[in-house]
Amino acid sequence: MRPAKLILGGKEYEFPVIVGTEDEVAIDIRKLRDMTGAITYDPGYVNTGSCKSDITFIDGEKGILRYRGYPIEELAGKLIYSAAAYLVIYGHLPDKEEFKDWRRDLTMNSFLHEHLRKFFDHYPITAHPMNILASMIASMSSFYPEEIDDPNDIDRHIKRIVGQVKTIAAYSYKQFIGKPCIYPRSDHSWSANFLRMMFGTPAEEYQVPKIMEEALDLILILHMDHEQNCSTSTVRMVGSSQSDLYASVASGINALWGRLHGGANEAVLNMLQRIHKDGGNYKKYVDMAKEKGSRFRLMGFGHRVYKNFDPRAKILKDTVTRLLADLGNNDPLLEIAMGLEEVVLKDEFFIERKLYPNVDFYSGIAYRAMGIPTDMFTVLFAMGRMPGWIAHWLEMRTDRDQRIHRPRQLYTGPNLQHL
Ligand SMILES: CC(C)(COP(=O)(O)OP(=O)(O)OC[C@H]1O[C@@H](n2cnc3c(N)ncnc32)[C@H](O)[C@@H]1OP(=O)(O)O)[C@@H](O)C(=O)NCCC(=O)NCCS
Repeated sequence: MRPAKLILGGKEYEFPVIVGTEDEVAIDIRKLRDMTGAITYDPGYVNTGSCKSDITFIDGEKGILRYRGYPIEELAGKLIYSAAAYLVIYGHLPDKEEFKDWRRDLTMNSFLHEHLRKFFDHYPITAHPMNILASMIASMSSFYPEEIDDPNDIDRHIKRIVGQVKTIAAYSYKQFIGKPCIYPRSDHSWSANFLRMMFGTPAEEYQVPKIMEEALDLILILHMDHEQNCSTSTVRMVGSSQSDLYASVASGINALWGRLHGGANEAVLNMLQRIHKDGGNYKKYVDMAKEKGSRFRLMGFGHRVYKNFDPRAKILKDTVTRLLADLGNNDPLLEIAMGLEEVVLKDEFFIERKLYPNVDFYSGIAYRAMGIPTDMFTVLFAMGRMPGWIAHWLEMRTDRDQRIHRPRQLYTGPNLQHL
Protein backbone atom coordinates (compact mmCIF):
# COMPACT_ATOMS: atom_id res chain seq x y z
CA MET A 1 0.00 0.00 0.00
CA ARG A 2 1.21 3.54 -0.79
CA PRO A 3 2.66 5.56 2.10
CA ALA A 4 0.38 7.86 4.14
CA LYS A 5 1.02 11.58 3.73
CA LEU A 6 0.91 14.10 6.54
CA ILE A 7 1.03 17.85 6.01
CA LEU A 8 2.22 19.70 9.11
CA GLY A 9 3.35 23.30 9.27
CA GLY A 10 3.22 23.47 5.46
CA LYS A 11 5.65 20.55 5.08
CA GLU A 12 4.73 17.13 3.71
CA TYR A 13 5.88 13.89 5.33
CA GLU A 14 5.40 10.28 4.28
CA PHE A 15 4.85 7.32 6.60
CA PRO A 16 4.82 3.63 5.70
CA VAL A 17 1.55 1.72 5.86
CA ILE A 18 1.43 -1.81 7.27
CA VAL A 19 -1.37 -4.26 6.42
CA GLY A 20 -2.32 -7.15 8.71
CA THR A 21 -3.34 -10.64 7.57
CA GLU A 22 -7.01 -9.66 7.80
CA ASP A 23 -6.40 -6.43 5.82
CA GLU A 24 -6.35 -4.16 8.85
CA VAL A 25 -4.41 -1.02 7.96
CA ALA A 26 -1.95 0.76 10.27
CA ILE A 27 0.15 3.87 9.65
CA ASP A 28 3.64 3.28 10.99
CA ILE A 29 4.41 6.47 12.93
CA ARG A 30 7.50 5.25 14.76
CA LYS A 31 9.59 8.01 13.16
CA LEU A 32 6.90 10.72 13.56
CA ARG A 33 8.56 12.63 16.39
CA ASP A 34 12.05 12.39 14.89
CA MET A 35 10.81 13.63 11.53
CA THR A 36 8.27 16.28 12.56
CA GLY A 37 8.85 17.05 16.25
CA ALA A 38 5.16 16.30 16.86
CA ILE A 39 3.52 13.46 18.76
CA THR A 40 0.02 11.96 18.45
CA TYR A 41 -2.74 12.69 20.99
CA ASP A 42 -4.84 9.58 21.63
CA PRO A 43 -6.18 9.28 25.20
CA GLY A 44 -6.98 5.66 26.02
CA TYR A 45 -4.86 4.66 22.96
CA VAL A 46 -8.08 3.80 21.12
CA ASN A 47 -6.51 4.54 17.71
CA THR A 48 -3.06 3.29 18.55
CA GLY A 49 -1.73 -0.11 17.53
CA SER A 50 0.72 -0.91 20.33
CA CYS A 51 1.98 -4.16 18.81
CA LYS A 52 1.60 -6.75 16.08
CA SER A 53 -0.02 -9.93 17.39
CA ASP A 54 -0.73 -13.45 16.08
CA ILE A 55 -3.07 -14.42 18.91
CA THR A 56 -6.59 -13.05 18.48
CA PHE A 57 -8.55 -11.49 15.65
CA ILE A 58 -11.73 -9.48 16.30
CA ASP A 59 -14.07 -7.84 13.80
CA GLY A 60 -16.64 -6.00 15.91
CA GLU A 61 -18.88 -5.07 12.98
CA LYS A 62 -19.19 -8.64 11.75
CA GLY A 63 -19.22 -10.24 15.21
CA ILE A 64 -16.04 -12.25 14.57
CA LEU A 65 -13.72 -13.55 17.31
CA ARG A 66 -10.92 -16.01 16.51
CA TYR A 67 -8.07 -17.41 18.60
CA ARG A 68 -5.02 -18.39 16.52
CA GLY A 69 -7.28 -18.34 13.45
CA TYR A 70 -9.97 -20.66 14.87
CA PRO A 71 -13.50 -19.16 15.11
CA ILE A 72 -14.73 -19.00 18.71
CA GLU A 73 -17.77 -21.04 17.61
CA GLU A 74 -15.44 -23.98 16.83
CA LEU A 75 -13.61 -23.79 20.15
CA ALA A 76 -16.15 -22.95 22.87
CA GLY A 77 -18.25 -25.99 23.70
CA LYS A 78 -15.89 -28.24 21.70
CA LEU A 79 -12.62 -28.03 23.65
CA ILE A 80 -11.96 -28.24 27.35
CA TYR A 81 -10.22 -25.38 29.16
CA SER A 82 -6.74 -26.94 29.18
CA ALA A 83 -6.76 -27.66 25.41
CA ALA A 84 -7.86 -24.11 24.56
CA ALA A 85 -5.28 -22.70 26.99
CA TYR A 86 -2.56 -24.70 25.20
CA LEU A 87 -3.73 -23.39 21.82
CA VAL A 88 -3.77 -19.76 22.97
CA ILE A 89 -0.40 -19.94 24.76
CA TYR A 90 1.64 -22.09 22.36
CA GLY A 91 -0.10 -21.17 19.10
CA HIS A 92 -1.20 -24.65 17.98
CA LEU A 93 -3.55 -27.37 19.16
CA PRO A 94 -1.71 -30.01 21.18
CA ASP A 95 -1.26 -33.48 19.68
CA LYS A 96 -2.24 -36.49 21.83
CA GLU A 97 1.12 -36.77 23.59
CA GLU A 98 1.48 -33.01 24.16
CA PHE A 99 -2.02 -32.86 25.58
CA LYS A 100 -1.44 -35.77 27.95
CA ASP A 101 1.76 -34.16 29.28
CA TRP A 102 0.21 -30.70 29.50
CA ARG A 103 -2.82 -31.91 31.49
CA ARG A 104 -0.63 -33.89 33.86
CA ASP A 105 1.78 -30.95 34.28
CA LEU A 106 -1.12 -28.62 35.09
CA THR A 107 -2.47 -30.97 37.77
CA MET A 108 0.96 -31.64 39.29
CA ASN A 109 1.57 -27.89 39.39
CA SER A 110 -1.78 -27.05 40.95
CA PHE A 111 -0.64 -27.46 44.57
CA LEU A 112 0.38 -24.29 46.33
CA HIS A 113 3.75 -23.99 48.01
CA GLU A 114 2.95 -24.85 51.63
CA HIS A 115 4.36 -21.54 52.87
CA LEU A 116 2.33 -19.62 50.32
CA ARG A 117 -0.80 -21.49 51.43
CA LYS A 118 -0.30 -20.10 54.93
CA PHE A 119 -0.74 -16.57 53.55
CA PHE A 120 -4.48 -17.28 53.40
CA ASP A 121 -4.60 -17.38 57.21
CA HIS A 122 -3.65 -13.71 57.39
CA TYR A 123 -6.16 -12.11 55.04
CA PRO A 124 -9.12 -10.51 56.78
CA ILE A 125 -12.38 -12.42 56.28
CA THR A 126 -13.68 -9.41 54.31
CA ALA A 127 -10.83 -9.50 51.76
CA HIS A 128 -12.06 -9.43 48.17
CA PRO A 129 -11.05 -12.68 46.38
CA MET A 130 -9.75 -10.64 43.42
CA ASN A 131 -7.27 -8.88 45.68
CA ILE A 132 -6.21 -12.19 47.21
CA LEU A 133 -5.70 -13.66 43.73
CA ALA A 134 -3.55 -10.72 42.56
CA SER A 135 -1.33 -10.68 45.64
CA MET A 136 -0.95 -14.48 45.76
CA ILE A 137 0.12 -14.63 42.11
CA ALA A 138 2.52 -11.71 42.64
CA SER A 139 3.96 -13.53 45.69
CA MET A 140 4.70 -16.62 43.62
CA SER A 141 7.84 -14.99 42.19
CA SER A 142 9.32 -15.00 45.73
CA PHE A 143 8.80 -18.76 45.87
CA TYR A 144 9.92 -19.58 42.33
CA PRO A 145 12.66 -17.03 41.58
CA GLU A 146 14.07 -18.81 38.54
CA GLU A 147 15.50 -17.22 35.44
CA ILE A 148 13.13 -15.12 33.40
CA ASP A 149 15.07 -15.62 30.16
CA ASP A 150 15.48 -19.41 30.08
CA PRO A 151 12.63 -20.95 28.00
CA ASN A 152 12.52 -24.05 30.24
CA ASP A 153 12.13 -21.94 33.34
CA ILE A 154 9.48 -19.82 31.63
CA ASP A 155 7.60 -22.98 30.75
CA ARG A 156 7.63 -24.04 34.40
CA HIS A 157 6.32 -20.60 35.43
CA ILE A 158 3.49 -20.96 32.89
CA LYS A 159 2.44 -24.39 34.18
CA ARG A 160 2.52 -23.20 37.77
CA ILE A 161 0.37 -20.17 37.04
CA VAL A 162 -2.22 -22.00 34.91
CA GLY A 163 -2.21 -24.89 37.40
CA GLN A 164 -2.42 -22.83 40.58
CA VAL A 165 -4.71 -19.97 39.56
CA LYS A 166 -7.80 -22.15 40.09
CA THR A 167 -6.48 -23.44 43.44
CA ILE A 168 -5.86 -19.90 44.70
CA ALA A 169 -9.28 -18.79 43.41
CA ALA A 170 -11.12 -21.64 45.15
CA TYR A 171 -9.11 -21.24 48.36
CA SER A 172 -9.87 -17.52 48.48
CA TYR A 173 -13.58 -18.42 48.42
CA LYS A 174 -13.13 -21.04 51.16
CA GLN A 175 -11.24 -18.43 53.18
CA PHE A 176 -14.17 -16.05 52.75
CA ILE A 177 -16.74 -18.58 53.99
CA GLY A 178 -14.41 -19.98 56.67
CA LYS A 179 -14.51 -23.59 55.39
CA PRO A 180 -11.56 -26.00 54.90
CA CYS A 181 -9.77 -26.24 51.54
CA ILE A 182 -9.34 -29.46 49.57
CA TYR A 183 -6.67 -30.40 47.01
CA PRO A 184 -7.04 -31.01 43.26
CA ARG A 185 -7.17 -34.58 41.85
CA SER A 186 -5.33 -35.90 38.81
CA ASP A 187 -8.43 -37.72 37.48
CA HIS A 188 -10.41 -34.45 37.19
CA SER A 189 -10.26 -31.89 34.39
CA TRP A 190 -9.07 -28.36 35.13
CA SER A 191 -12.63 -27.01 35.42
CA ALA A 192 -13.92 -30.01 37.40
CA ASN A 193 -11.07 -29.55 39.87
CA PHE A 194 -11.97 -25.91 40.35
CA LEU A 195 -15.66 -26.73 40.98
CA ARG A 196 -14.72 -29.56 43.34
CA MET A 197 -12.41 -27.25 45.32
CA MET A 198 -15.15 -24.59 45.43
CA PHE A 199 -18.05 -26.77 46.48
CA GLY A 200 -16.50 -29.96 47.93
CA THR A 201 -15.61 -30.63 51.57
CA PRO A 202 -13.06 -33.05 53.09
CA ALA A 203 -15.97 -35.00 54.64
CA GLU A 204 -17.31 -36.61 51.46
CA GLU A 205 -16.53 -36.83 47.75
CA TYR A 206 -18.22 -34.13 45.69
CA GLN A 207 -19.59 -35.27 42.32
CA VAL A 208 -19.03 -32.41 39.91
CA PRO A 209 -22.22 -31.98 37.84
CA LYS A 210 -21.24 -32.57 34.19
CA ILE A 211 -23.41 -29.68 33.02
CA MET A 212 -21.54 -27.29 35.33
CA GLU A 213 -18.14 -28.57 34.24
CA GLU A 214 -19.05 -28.15 30.57
CA ALA A 215 -20.58 -24.72 31.13
CA LEU A 216 -17.48 -23.54 32.99
CA ASP A 217 -15.15 -24.81 30.23
CA LEU A 218 -17.25 -22.92 27.71
CA ILE A 219 -17.41 -19.63 29.65
CA LEU A 220 -13.70 -19.64 30.45
CA ILE A 221 -12.84 -20.26 26.80
CA LEU A 222 -15.13 -17.40 25.73
CA HIS A 223 -13.10 -15.11 28.00
CA MET A 224 -9.65 -16.47 27.13
CA ASP A 225 -8.44 -13.56 25.05
CA HIS A 226 -9.76 -10.32 23.61
CA GLU A 227 -6.61 -8.75 22.14
CA GLN A 228 -5.36 -5.40 23.48
CA ASN A 229 -7.93 -4.67 26.22
CA CYS A 230 -6.99 -2.82 29.42
CA SER A 231 -5.69 -5.82 31.41
CA THR A 232 -3.81 -7.39 28.50
CA SER A 233 -2.20 -4.06 27.65
CA THR A 234 -1.26 -3.77 31.33
CA VAL A 235 0.44 -7.17 31.24
CA ARG A 236 2.39 -6.05 28.17
CA MET A 237 3.18 -2.65 29.72
CA VAL A 238 4.59 -4.23 32.91
CA GLY A 239 6.32 -7.03 31.01
CA SER A 240 7.96 -4.52 28.65
CA SER A 241 10.31 -3.49 31.46
CA GLN A 242 11.29 -7.20 31.71
CA SER A 243 9.33 -7.80 34.89
CA ASP A 244 8.75 -11.50 35.42
CA LEU A 245 5.61 -13.39 34.41
CA TYR A 246 4.12 -13.49 37.92
CA ALA A 247 4.46 -9.71 38.40
CA SER A 248 3.10 -9.02 34.91
CA VAL A 249 -0.03 -11.18 35.12
CA ALA A 250 -0.71 -10.04 38.72
CA SER A 251 -0.85 -6.49 37.29
CA GLY A 252 -3.32 -7.78 34.69
CA ILE A 253 -5.54 -9.12 37.48
CA ASN A 254 -5.50 -5.71 39.18
CA ALA A 255 -6.44 -3.99 35.93
CA LEU A 256 -9.27 -6.47 35.35
CA TRP A 257 -10.65 -5.84 38.83
CA GLY A 258 -11.91 -2.36 37.87
CA ARG A 259 -15.64 -2.09 37.29
CA LEU A 260 -15.20 -0.67 33.80
CA HIS A 261 -13.44 -3.87 32.78
CA GLY A 262 -14.01 -7.21 34.51
CA GLY A 263 -16.66 -6.03 36.94
CA ALA A 264 -19.50 -5.87 34.41
CA ASN A 265 -21.06 -9.29 35.15
CA GLU A 266 -21.04 -8.43 38.85
CA ALA A 267 -22.83 -5.19 37.92
CA VAL A 268 -25.50 -7.23 36.10
CA LEU A 269 -26.28 -9.19 39.28
CA ASN A 270 -26.29 -6.02 41.39
CA MET A 271 -28.81 -4.48 38.99
CA LEU A 272 -31.02 -7.60 39.12
CA GLN A 273 -30.85 -7.47 42.91
CA ARG A 274 -31.89 -3.82 42.86
CA ILE A 275 -34.87 -4.58 40.59
CA HIS A 276 -35.87 -7.49 42.80
CA LYS A 277 -35.76 -5.39 45.98
CA ASP A 278 -37.86 -2.79 44.21
CA GLY A 279 -40.70 -5.28 43.59
CA GLY A 280 -39.35 -7.02 40.47
CA ASN A 281 -40.89 -4.60 37.96
CA TYR A 282 -38.14 -4.81 35.34
CA LYS A 283 -40.20 -2.93 32.73
CA LYS A 284 -39.90 0.18 34.90
CA TYR A 285 -36.09 -0.14 34.59
CA VAL A 286 -36.27 -0.59 30.83
CA ASP A 287 -38.26 2.67 30.67
CA MET A 288 -35.76 4.35 32.98
CA ALA A 289 -32.87 3.36 30.67
CA LYS A 290 -34.77 4.81 27.68
CA GLU A 291 -35.65 8.12 29.31
CA LYS A 292 -34.02 11.10 27.59
CA GLY A 293 -31.13 12.43 29.66
CA SER A 294 -31.26 9.45 32.04
CA ARG A 295 -27.86 8.21 33.20
CA PHE A 296 -29.26 4.79 34.11
CA ARG A 297 -28.15 1.98 31.81
CA LEU A 298 -29.17 -1.62 31.69
CA MET A 299 -26.08 -3.52 32.74
CA GLY A 300 -25.17 -6.37 30.40
CA PHE A 301 -26.48 -4.68 27.25
CA GLY A 302 -24.41 -3.07 24.49
CA HIS A 303 -20.74 -3.40 23.65
CA ARG A 304 -17.98 -1.00 22.66
CA VAL A 305 -16.52 -3.29 19.99
CA TYR A 306 -19.35 -5.62 18.91
CA LYS A 307 -21.94 -3.46 17.20
CA ASN A 308 -24.23 -6.10 15.71
CA PHE A 309 -23.95 -8.97 18.13
CA ASP A 310 -21.45 -10.29 20.62
CA PRO A 311 -20.47 -13.75 19.27
CA ARG A 312 -19.66 -14.89 22.82
CA ALA A 313 -23.14 -13.94 24.05
CA LYS A 314 -24.73 -15.85 21.19
CA ILE A 315 -22.87 -19.03 22.18
CA LEU A 316 -23.52 -18.58 25.89
CA LYS A 317 -27.26 -17.99 25.54
CA ASP A 318 -27.91 -21.68 24.71
CA THR A 319 -25.77 -22.84 27.61
CA VAL A 320 -27.64 -20.55 30.00
CA THR A 321 -30.97 -21.94 28.78
CA ARG A 322 -29.72 -25.51 29.39
CA LEU A 323 -28.27 -24.61 32.80
CA LEU A 324 -31.52 -23.03 33.94
CA ALA A 325 -33.55 -25.99 32.71
CA ASP A 326 -31.22 -28.47 34.42
CA LEU A 327 -30.38 -26.74 37.68
CA GLY A 328 -33.86 -25.34 38.26
CA ASN A 329 -35.07 -21.81 37.71
CA ASN A 330 -36.97 -20.73 40.77
CA ASP A 331 -34.53 -17.96 41.50
CA PRO A 332 -36.40 -14.62 41.24
CA LEU A 333 -33.27 -12.84 39.96
CA LEU A 334 -32.98 -15.27 37.06
CA GLU A 335 -36.65 -14.79 36.25
CA ILE A 336 -36.11 -11.02 36.14
CA ALA A 337 -33.06 -11.51 33.88
CA MET A 338 -35.02 -13.64 31.41
CA GLY A 339 -37.91 -11.16 31.41
CA LEU A 340 -35.53 -8.28 30.82
CA GLU A 341 -33.86 -10.05 27.93
CA GLU A 342 -37.22 -10.76 26.27
CA VAL A 343 -38.44 -7.16 26.55
CA VAL A 344 -35.17 -5.57 25.41
CA LEU A 345 -34.78 -7.80 22.34
CA LYS A 346 -38.17 -6.57 21.04
CA ASP A 347 -37.83 -2.90 22.03
CA GLU A 348 -37.23 -0.37 19.22
CA PHE A 349 -34.95 1.80 21.40
CA PHE A 350 -32.48 -1.07 21.87
CA ILE A 351 -32.87 -2.49 18.36
CA GLU A 352 -32.16 0.91 16.76
CA ARG A 353 -29.02 1.42 18.87
CA LYS A 354 -27.88 -2.17 18.34
CA LEU A 355 -27.89 -2.88 22.06
CA TYR A 356 -27.90 -6.65 22.53
CA PRO A 357 -27.28 -8.68 25.66
CA ASN A 358 -23.49 -9.04 25.95
CA VAL A 359 -21.32 -11.86 27.32
CA ASP A 360 -21.41 -10.37 30.83
CA PHE A 361 -25.21 -10.54 30.93
CA TYR A 362 -25.23 -14.27 30.24
CA SER A 363 -22.12 -15.17 32.23
CA GLY A 364 -23.57 -13.40 35.30
CA ILE A 365 -26.76 -15.46 34.98
CA ALA A 366 -24.83 -18.70 34.36
CA TYR A 367 -22.63 -18.17 37.44
CA ARG A 368 -25.66 -17.35 39.56
CA ALA A 369 -27.41 -20.54 38.37
CA MET A 370 -24.27 -22.55 39.24
CA GLY A 371 -24.22 -21.15 42.78
CA ILE A 372 -21.06 -19.09 42.31
CA PRO A 373 -21.12 -16.05 44.61
CA THR A 374 -21.12 -12.61 42.97
CA ASP A 375 -17.73 -11.63 44.48
CA MET A 376 -16.14 -14.50 42.57
CA PHE A 377 -17.39 -13.49 39.12
CA THR A 378 -14.35 -11.35 38.25
CA VAL A 379 -12.05 -14.02 39.65
CA LEU A 380 -13.52 -16.48 37.16
CA PHE A 381 -12.96 -13.93 34.42
CA ALA A 382 -9.29 -13.76 35.49
CA MET A 383 -9.02 -17.57 35.42
CA GLY A 384 -10.38 -17.58 31.88
CA ARG A 385 -8.16 -14.70 30.73
CA MET A 386 -4.93 -16.07 32.26
CA PRO A 387 -3.80 -18.05 29.16
CA GLY A 388 -4.40 -14.93 27.04
CA TRP A 389 -2.24 -12.76 29.32
CA ILE A 390 0.52 -15.37 29.30
CA ALA A 391 0.38 -15.65 25.50
CA HIS A 392 0.74 -11.86 25.12
CA TRP A 393 3.62 -11.72 27.59
CA LEU A 394 5.43 -14.49 25.68
CA GLU A 395 4.75 -12.95 22.29
CA MET A 396 6.02 -9.57 23.42
CA ARG A 397 9.30 -11.03 24.63
CA THR A 398 10.16 -12.47 21.22
CA ASP A 399 8.91 -9.51 19.16
CA ARG A 400 11.94 -7.58 17.95
CA ASP A 401 9.87 -4.41 17.45
CA GLN A 402 8.96 -4.23 21.16
CA ARG A 403 10.64 -1.70 23.43
CA ILE A 404 9.95 -0.63 26.97
CA HIS A 405 6.53 1.05 26.83
CA ARG A 406 6.87 4.77 27.21
CA PRO A 407 4.00 6.90 25.89
CA ARG A 408 4.46 10.67 25.57
CA GLN A 409 2.26 13.46 26.90
CA LEU A 410 1.11 16.91 25.88
CA TYR A 411 2.19 19.26 28.66
CA THR A 412 -0.56 21.78 29.50
CA GLY A 413 0.78 23.13 32.83
CA PRO A 414 2.22 26.58 33.60
CA ASN A 415 5.12 27.97 31.60
CA LEU A 416 8.39 28.58 33.36
CA GLN A 417 7.86 30.48 36.61
CA HIS A 418 10.16 31.38 39.50
CA LEU A 419 9.72 31.67 43.26
C1 LIG B 1 -20.72 -1.20 26.77
C2 LIG B 1 -21.02 0.28 26.59
C3 LIG B 1 -20.07 1.08 27.50
C4 LIG B 1 -20.75 0.63 25.13
O1 LIG B 1 -20.92 1.99 24.99
P1 LIG B 1 -20.80 2.77 23.60
O2 LIG B 1 -20.53 1.84 22.49
O3 LIG B 1 -19.83 3.84 23.79
O4 LIG B 1 -22.24 3.31 23.38
P2 LIG B 1 -22.72 4.76 23.75
O5 LIG B 1 -22.37 5.04 25.16
O6 LIG B 1 -22.23 5.71 22.71
O7 LIG B 1 -24.29 4.62 23.63
C5 LIG B 1 -25.02 4.69 22.41
C6 LIG B 1 -26.50 4.89 22.72
O8 LIG B 1 -27.02 3.70 23.33
C7 LIG B 1 -27.46 3.98 24.66
N1 LIG B 1 -27.00 2.88 25.51
C8 LIG B 1 -25.81 2.21 25.42
N2 LIG B 1 -25.77 1.21 26.29
C9 LIG B 1 -26.95 1.22 26.95
C10 LIG B 1 -27.49 0.42 27.96
N3 LIG B 1 -26.80 -0.60 28.46
N4 LIG B 1 -28.73 0.71 28.42
C11 LIG B 1 -29.43 1.73 27.89
N5 LIG B 1 -28.96 2.52 26.92
C12 LIG B 1 -27.74 2.28 26.45
C13 LIG B 1 -26.82 5.28 25.07
O9 LIG B 1 -27.56 5.96 26.05
C14 LIG B 1 -26.77 6.00 23.74
O10 LIG B 1 -28.08 6.47 23.48
P3 LIG B 1 -28.30 7.87 22.67
O11 LIG B 1 -27.78 7.59 21.29
O12 LIG B 1 -29.77 8.09 22.72
O13 LIG B 1 -27.51 8.91 23.41
C15 LIG B 1 -22.49 0.58 26.93
O14 LIG B 1 -23.34 -0.11 26.04
C16 LIG B 1 -22.85 0.28 28.37
O15 LIG B 1 -22.64 1.12 29.25
N6 LIG B 1 -23.40 -0.94 28.65
C17 LIG B 1 -23.75 -1.33 29.99
C18 LIG B 1 -22.52 -1.83 30.75
C19 LIG B 1 -22.04 -3.18 30.28
O16 LIG B 1 -22.80 -4.11 30.10
N7 LIG B 1 -20.70 -3.29 30.10
C20 LIG B 1 -20.08 -4.53 29.69
C21 LIG B 1 -19.61 -4.47 28.30
S1 LIG B 1 -18.89 -5.99 27.84
